[in-house]
Amino acid sequence: MSKTISEARIIEDPEELDEEELEGEADPESAPVETPEGADWNTVERAFLTRRSIRKFKRKQVPAHLIHRMLEVARFAPSQGNCQPYKFAVIRDPKLLVEMEEYCVDQCKQLTAAVNYTTYKKGSFGYYKARVMARLFNAIDPNMLHPVPVTAMTSIAHGKFMVFHRAPTVILILMDKHGIGVPEVDIGIVGTNIVMAAESHRLGTCWIGFSKLLNKSKEWRERLGITDRFEVSEAIAVGYPVGKPWQNLIERPTHEIAWFEDGEKQILG
Ligand SMILES: Cc1cc2nc3c(=O)[nH]c(=O)nc-3n(C[C@H](O)[C@H](O)[C@H](O)COP(=O)(O)O)c2cc1C
Repeated sequence: MSKTISEARIIEDPEELDEEELEGEADPESAPVETPEGADWNTVERAFLTRRSIRKFKRKQVPAHLIHRMLEVARFAPSQGNCQPYKFAVIRDPKLLVEMEEYCVDQCKQLTAAVNYTTYKKGSFGYYKARVMARLFNAIDPNMLHPVPVTAMTSIAHGKFMVFHRAPTVILILMDKHGIGVPEVDIGIVGTNIVMAAESHRLGTCWIGFSKLLNKSKEWRERLGITDRFEVSEAIAVGYPVGKPWQNLIERPTHEIAWFEDGEKQILG
């Protein structure tokens, strides 16, 4: 039986490489780009360095063919075992977007009331009830009640922050829960392909983790055609940005790098 293309790639034997391939002059078409130390950032690097999350979009819709291009770039994302554990739902219907926003805001109101004890008078019944709930939630999923999402959720509940930021297009990334290994990692990669493809068209994007709230609703799962095997993992809001977001660079902490070379270990960063 003939091999599939992906099988053929996976079983390619590195031992078969000959000396000429390892040490010889690179074929000019695949020769590496010579980048001297201190050289300016190139176009691809600059796109990554200047990307920002956009939370204010123009009303103008993004042409459908650009969304198709972004999803075509998404198709070429690496994934564990090439399992590509995702599919997409593209929402461009303004009425549906408003309804999705309203549903998620309502969920944030309910969750805030249930767990954000800081919004209750200290010592009141509501305060203690919410504290108990928060402890319970924390035991189930310690990351969920991190102050950042809880603050954002509370702001959404009080109408000070939006879920989908009135973007004209929202791409829901639906994760196949049976994906190989850690499908969440593949979601991050495929989403990055979408975001960076959008950047190349000077479109603005924002990841929307709060889109997961849709999973809680049987009605929304049905409306969006989400079967049991799948769940909304993330969403990416897309549109034309207001202003010049790429000029607003933000501080990023450096991360420790352990560097092993010449029998030595150095800690950088
Ligand atoms: C997985 C993920 C989920 C996110 N969810 C939200 C969200 O629900 N709402 C939002 O406004 N921003 C969301 N963000 C955007 C982050 O807040 C943002 O990336 C971070 O503050 C850094 O800012 P920058 O993207 O402008 O560099 C999310 C980002 C990621 C990677």
